[in-house]
Amino acid sequence: MTTTTTETATGTITAAPVLEASGVTMRFGGLTAVRDVDLTVREGEIVGLIGPNGAGKTTFFNCLTGLYVPTEGQVSYKGTVLPPKPHLVTQAGIARTFQNIRLFSNMTVLENVLVGRHTRTKEGLWSALLRGPGFKRAEAASRERAMELLEFVGLGKKADHLARNLPYGEQRKLEIARALASDPGLLLLDEPTAGMNQSETRTTEELVFAIRDRGIAVLVIEHDMKFIFKLCDRVAVLVQGEKLVEGTSEVVQGDERVVAAYLGTPYEGAPGAEEAAEVEAAEVAAEAEAAVAGAEESATEDAVTETADEAAEEAADEAPEATDEAADEAPEATDEAADDAADEAPEADDTPADAAPAADADSTTEGDSK
Ligand SMILES: Nc1ncnc2c1ncn2[C@@H]1O[C@H](COP(=O)(O)OP(=O)(O)O)[C@@H](O)[C@H]1O
Ligand SMILES: [Mg+2]
Repeated sequence: MTTTTTETATGTITAAPVLEASGVTMRFGGLTAVRDVDLTVREGEIVGLIGPNGAGKTTFFNCLTGLYVPTEGQVSYKGTVLPPKPHLVTQAGIARTFQNIRLFSNMTVLENVLVGRHTRTKEGLWSALLRGPGFKRAEAASRERAMELLEFVGLGKKADHLARNLPYGEQRKLEIARALASDPGLLLLDEPTAGMNQSETRTTEELVFAIRDRGIAVLVIEHDMKFIFKLCDRVAVLVQGEKLVEGTSEVVQGDERVVAAYLGTPYEGAPGAEEAAEVEAAEVAAEAEAAVAGAEESATEDAVTETADEAAEEAADEAPEATDEAADEAPEATDEAADDAADEAPEADDTPADAAPAADADSTTEGDSK
């Protein structure tokens, strides 16, 4: 792990702050979307910002980047208070991506990155777009840098494609490349894996680590808990505009208030998920057997269905930590249980099979980006 963080004998983190938000409040009429939030991101850190939909995460990003002028509070970058103007914030060294992708869809992949570069070149945006003489001179250097960034995010071969023709996951990566083009010291990512499949998400994880290793601090909003807890040195939880908890992944995962307020539904990659899935599968099998026994004892079809349903509900209730992935990893057990139930008690419906997915974690990966 490459960071500039040093630890004292007492374990205190002494890396310099890159971002310091203090007392940030954002009101829209009667609605307080963000209330008195303090947050610090230090050099070398990847910090996560999580919370239910509508918690104020994106609004907080908008306050950090000058898109909104906070009702109260201030934001500093490397010790200097930022004026709430997006281009000045970018110039200072903070770059971002958007929850809803914002690319120039009719421009090429390379051109999109070149646009992101304009704050760092003498030539302005319009010069870049109109390809004036000044731009031509600066173009070679900028092009080289943009190509390097495209290679870095894995889009080197798509430089000449139109942005709108890229698959969704690659558009998200292009947004990251464009943000990096402004040579930021801090990158804000708003739901970078929304709409991505598992393998794209894993690639994005690697990308975020690589960005951090380039000396760029990262603040990331994401609903995918597995992603967040794997990546982040520290996680802050926003609930109804207020920071509820902040700490390491371990601390946040174990905090009862977080579990109650936000992680009440099981999430992907929860500790013990694998074991929980095994237990769940065993329970489903046992309950299915009980259902079969019940079926043999009872002459009525109703009794069988009822028992099977109860078994399914119990299995779901008793294995709250079970996840998609864990369920995937123990598919035979669950399927077998279902098959057994179906084979041995033809009257019983296949509810036990449905019970396992019912205990999954879909709700935690649903973004509000659509
Ligand atoms: N420009 C705005 N005007 C009025 N209300 C807004 C505006 N932007 C966000 N909100 C409200 O602020 C709250 C927080 O929204 P948001 O920051 O998008 O949440 P999150 O990103 O955590 O899902 C929501 O209730 C949302 O409707
Ligand atoms: Mg949001």
